[in-house]
Amino acid sequence: MLFKRNPDGIILPSEITPREVYEGRRQFIARAAATAVAGSGIWEMANREAFAQATAQRLAATRNAALSTTEAQTSFKDASSYNNYYEFGTDKGDPVENAHTLKTRPWTVTIEGEVKKPVTLDIDRILKLAPLEERVYRLRCVEGWSMVIPWVGYSLSNLLKQVEPTGNAKYVEFTTLADRRQMPGLRSPVLDWPYVEGLRMDEAMHPLALLAVGMYGQVLPNQNGAPVRLVVPWKYGFKSAKSIVRIRLVSRQPRTAWNDSAPNEYGFYSNVNPNVDHPRWSQATERRIGEDGFFQRKRKTLMFNGYDQVASLYGGMDLKKFF
Ligand code: MTE
Repeated sequence: MLFKRNPDGIILPSEITPREVYEGRRQFIARAAATAVAGSGIWEMANREAFAQATAQRLAATRNAALSTTEAQTSFKDASSYNNYYEFGTDKGDPVENAHTLKTRPWTVTIEGEVKKPVTLDIDRILKLAPLEERVYRLRCVEGWSMVIPWVGYSLSNLLKQVEPTGNAKYVEFTTLADRRQMPGLRSPVLDWPYVEGLRMDEAMHPLALLAVGMYGQVLPNQNGAPVRLVVPWKYGFKSAKSIVRIRLVSRQPRTAWNDSAPNEYGFYSNVNPNVDHPRWSQATERRIGEDGFFQRKRKTLMFNGYDQVASLYGGMDLKKFF
């Protein structure tokens, strides 16, 4: 362990190994190993992730058992190497290969709009804003696969309460980093950058909506949305915006990147719903990553991804219309 948790369960910036220090360490190890096998480009590809994991900052967090599933967890390797992060490429293996160029410090998140106390918070402040919890959530991608991941973070509501939303705050818009120097995928017009997502205010305030800063007991790997991302476990994975730089509280439903690109395929709500097919495929079943064998049966997809406690948010709504 690189640092201990104080009695309040809050990680202080002083307890976190500065990025320059561990990056320096990582570079030193990398250089030493690279020299040893000079000429072998294979080394860097195969070992970058192993070293990143071995030297990553640990995050102490208390398990929130009430909000965690006891299902078998996806391996760290699968969860960190089979990703969607289009800013680093559209293939599942692109983010792990390319996201090392993302600079996650210094990093700030601006929270503004319909709030009494707009603020720009440094990532160190975000890390200690509330006690860090470990929550094991299912995440179901709209493409038909799912994972079970132990995230580290706290309810997004902790952050939103700080800025004192006004009565006009009906929705929350999340904008993520779009920097061409760091993100090779931005050269492709696959989405209208930056990647933007949104939630209704009551969804954003629901305790399950997680502001995640880590997974598997350590800071988020870049490809998983470092340094801070959303995890909304009852919605398709694309609602869980990665590498957030701005949170705006607004009175009208915000635009979202996927809804912009294909409005008939990706709605604003995007609740996991086995009864509403994607226009091009069924959403009735899913493939759990790590369970892939020729004879492996697919799992049935559950309404709200099994998170029935959010059902009351949608009482009286036609979820076929508001998909
Ligand atoms: N956030 C950004 N900024 N860019 C993206 O391409 N992809 C989304 C979501 N968040 C995406 C993003 C999609 S489609 C999914 S399924 C999840 O991230 C994947 O998260 P994971 O890689 O941690 O499993």
